[in-house]
Amino acid sequence: MKTLILYHSEHHGNTKKIADVIAKTLGAETVPASGFHFSSIDEYDLIGFGSGIYYSRFHDSLYRVVESLPAQNGKKAFLFSTTGSKTYSMCAHESFKALLADKGFAISGEFSCLGFDTALSEEGINRGKPDAADLKAAERFAKGLIK
Ligand SMILES: Cc1cc2nc3c(=O)[nH]c(=O)nc-3n(C[C@H](O)[C@H](O)[C@H](O)COP(=O)(O)O)c2cc1C
Repeated sequence: MKTLILYHSEHHGNTKKIADVIAKTLGAETVPASGFHFSSIDEYDLIGFGSGIYYSRFHDSLYRVVESLPAQNGKKAFLFSTTGSKTYSMCAHESFKALLADKGFAISGEFSCLGFDTALSEEGINRGKPDAADLKAAERFAKGLIK
């Protein structure tokens, strides 16, 4: 199954760590969402969208990519995030899933874990996250997508 992962990871590279594990497990290609050229999406059977959660949303670059695509007629997609707090990622996932569904994607799964976050204080929260257990969970998630 040819898989493309589009991601945005600007704060501490937290989401990139998850994107890399999922990509390795699936043999997928990873591309920053801001540098993606839409002409190539038809080559792929499965598209992953991943982002840190910024102001309770997936990054705008991912919204822009999806909004610019033609209708997808049931192409498979999954989403993943890293976040300061799970409460915010749940809202962000619901909103982004609605956008994917509107565009005609069929959602195969979603994954989220905490990520180191210094947005509100120098000391930060979730230091060390994503950790080895999170990376393992991301790998399990990716294996589940293949089944
Ligand atoms: C500008 C900014 C806004 C953020 N807003 C939120 C938020 O609304 N809710 C939340 O739970 N985390 C928030 N975070 C924390 C990030 O979601 C978290 O650190 C994430 O792991 C960053 O991923 P990245 O390192 O891949 O960019 C914010 C971080 C930044 C820098």
